[in-house]
Amino acid sequence: MTAPAAGRLHLAALRLAEFRSHAATRLALDGRPVVLFGPNGAGKTGVLEAVSLLSPGRGLRHAAPAELARAPGALGWKVAAVLAAQDGRHELETSAAPEAAREVRIDGKPAPQTALARLCPMLWLTPAMDRLWIEAAEGRRRFLDRMTLCFHADHGEAAVAYEKAMRERNRLLRDGAADPLWYAALEARMGAAGAVLAANRARTVARLVQAQEGAATAFPAAALAITLPEGVEAPADAAALAAALARGRSRDRDAGRTLAGPHRADLAAVWADRAMPAARCSTGEQKALLLSLVLANARALAAETGTPPVLLLDEVAAHLDAARRAALYAEVAALGAQAFLTGTGPELFAGLGARAQAFAVAETGGLSHLSEVPLP
Ligand SMILES: Nc1ncnc2c1ncn2[C@@H]1O[C@H](COP(=O)(O)OP(=O)(O)OP(=O)(O)O)[C@@H](O)[C@H]1O
Ligand SMILES: [Mg+2]
Repeated sequence: MTAPAAGRLHLAALRLAEFRSHAATRLALDGRPVVLFGPNGAGKTGVLEAVSLLSPGRGLRHAAPAELARAPGALGWKVAAVLAAQDGRHELETSAAPEAAREVRIDGKPAPQTALARLCPMLWLTPAMDRLWIEAAEGRRRFLDRMTLCFHADHGEAAVAYEKAMRERNRLLRDGAADPLWYAALEARMGAAGAVLAANRARTVARLVQAQEGAATAFPAAALAITLPEGVEAPADAAALAAALARGRSRDRDAGRTLAGPHRADLAAVWADRAMPAARCSTGEQKALLLSLVLANARALAAETGTPPVLLLDEVAAHLDAARRAALYAEVAALGAQAFLTGTGPELFAGLGARAQAFAVAETGGLSHLSEVPLP
């Protein structure tokens, strides 16, 4: 049995109450990767989604809180965890009452969602992200921001501040307001928060590039760049961003929204060895590029802070050939990361053996049940 390296971040206990198909699910975890296998609809993704809500935002399916309550019943839902972190144990809890917003408690006290990022860096890959490289920029920007949040816990607060100021500015634009002082105040706030966003993202991409250089990995290195749509400037600092926004006021008024700024950023990736843009790679190759970035992020974070993030890898095994699957397991084990891995059958995880904790997930009458089992 391989014990997790000392001090590696992991969830030591997880409890789901009235969450999707989980009426009351409890897991005791020891820090090894967690394998969840079972038939379609058993409730595997539900567990990963619950874990993803121990991070700021709307979780790995971007669902509204009301959608997460177990139906029928429409009671509120709750997810609670004991987090074993480097500075000791923390109790994390998130819940939503019917019709109410999601709430967070850390060590028993109410806390803002963004505070979760400081305690529990986390990254995920889901089947919906298979099309990430060929769909709209929003998905890639969200992925980049999720990676950035692992290194820069202030990224969440900066994003909230930027978006709030932008929403107010957009309202002025739509109302046709002309008060320059009002615009200037909002543009100053967008400039300050936007400069943080841009700098955090740029530093993260630099780290990922560095972590891929010379790394012993079976996954392809990606050349990365943060891009903006044509005609959108990339101002150097807060004042320059605020000034660019001020210059764009009349154009933005015509459009009824803010056209330029870091909310338009995109992440461009090229399979470096083949000079092949990600969008033109095969489906499996596109997945491999995403995994490569997740693993690079985990290596860089472990090198910097002593611990990799918690990883949620939904249905990743099924998309990889046997060699890549074995390589993924070897890299996850070497990192000492608590990776949650799902798949339909245990055979997909055969190479992990006692290096992982495995649970069979089954569904009866719409309710999920988990039981811990050894892997073959
Ligand atoms: N709010 C809800 N209340 C009750 N059940 C729900 C709710 N939302 C989703 N479900 C059901 O929960 C079940 C488990 O979903 P989940 O996505 O966790 O399955 P899964 O094991 O990941 O399946 P797959 O292998 O197909 O990905 C599904 O049958 C789904 O319809
Ligand atoms: Mg699933």
